[in-house]
Amino acid sequence: MNIVVTGSIAYDYLMRFPGDFLDHVKPDRLQKLSLSFLVDEMVKQRGGCAPNIAYSLALLGERPLLMGTAGQDFGDYRAWLEEQGVDTSAVKVVPEVFTASFFVTTDQDLNQIASFYTGAMAFARTLSFHDLAAPVDLAIVSPNDPEAMDKYPRECRALGIPYIYDPSQQTVRISAESLRDGVVGADILIVNDYEYELFKDRTAMTDDDIRRAVKRAVIVTLGAEGAAIWVGEGRNEKIVIPAVTPDGIMDPTGIGDAFRAGLMKGLALGLPWEACGRLGSLAATYVLETTGPQTHHYSIAEFVARYRSVFGDDAATAALSGG
Ligand SMILES: Nc1ncnc2c1ncn2[C@@H]1O[C@H](COP(=O)(O)OP(=O)(O)OP(=O)(O)O)[C@@H](O)[C@H]1O
Ligand SMILES: [Mg+2]
Repeated sequence: MNIVVTGSIAYDYLMRFPGDFLDHVKPDRLQKLSLSFLVDEMVKQRGGCAPNIAYSLALLGERPLLMGTAGQDFGDYRAWLEEQGVDTSAVKVVPEVFTASFFVTTDQDLNQIASFYTGAMAFARTLSFHDLAAPVDLAIVSPNDPEAMDKYPRECRALGIPYIYDPSQQTVRISAESLRDGVVGADILIVNDYEYELFKDRTAMTDDDIRRAVKRAVIVTLGAEGAAIWVGEGRNEKIVIPAVTPDGIMDPTGIGDAFRAGLMKGLALGLPWEACGRLGSLAATYVLETTGPQTHHYSIAEFVARYRSVFGDDAATAALSGG
């Protein structure tokens, strides 16, 4: 199965300030803001929706094609992804700029000051599904440059590529017209519950409009409550997917992306919806148990054993153990 994963490619720079921002903000001097915080901790993490999804797909034995744009600082990241089993041949490097970067400093009270530098991500609109060499069996359009997210669904429909429309955190940014266009003719729409409400508000589509717009399923993730999948005729049949309780919560960054990877693994194996959703839930929980979106690790045998201990044997354990 040829899976193409599109979306942001980014680095996350996470800093911790050992004090309180508010002690340094003088309310009588707000005409001109100039603040500098000496931070004593910084981590640089590999992130971005597309590599997050692709990494978990690789852990699950797929070799997804990552399609996106990155900057001059992508070299190490590319080598690392290739080592993990991700095909990076469709990542275009724009040497004049840096890879999209998220900088966030958190103080002792968990106040945050953050900036997101779009960098090379703004060039994602220059990539095209028409330029891919091999036929594509399944694609996902994940948060990215808004112009790219507008273009890819149209290209997928023109080329007959089944695609998952995943506007997620960009639901707030993308135009209503583009959101409507993205969902009509998608195989699947996936968003979290907050984004689903926002999607309906922004597009003025009803539950029914959205369910009729997609070909196969509407999936809404519900945090610790798991997920709901609407399938069948008119997408009126609801399948409830429970979450998998983690052995301790470390960091939720990237759990939504991991859910999508598990789901796509199930689709690649042609599994029933319930098994697809369960794969998503377990893949997400592994990310919750580690810090960062790509630091978790498991073998397929370990994943299957844990899946079996939570859900028992089903089509997923049979398919994953069979090869
Ligand atoms: N506290 C939790 N315990 C167990 N599983 C969880 C928990 N929170 C989330 N999950 C799993 O992760 C999936 C996605 O979570 P959620 O709906 O919060 O996505 P999201 O808000 O898009 O996340 P992200 O922060 O990555 O964007 C859920 O469907 C569930 O399977
Ligand atoms: Mg999300």
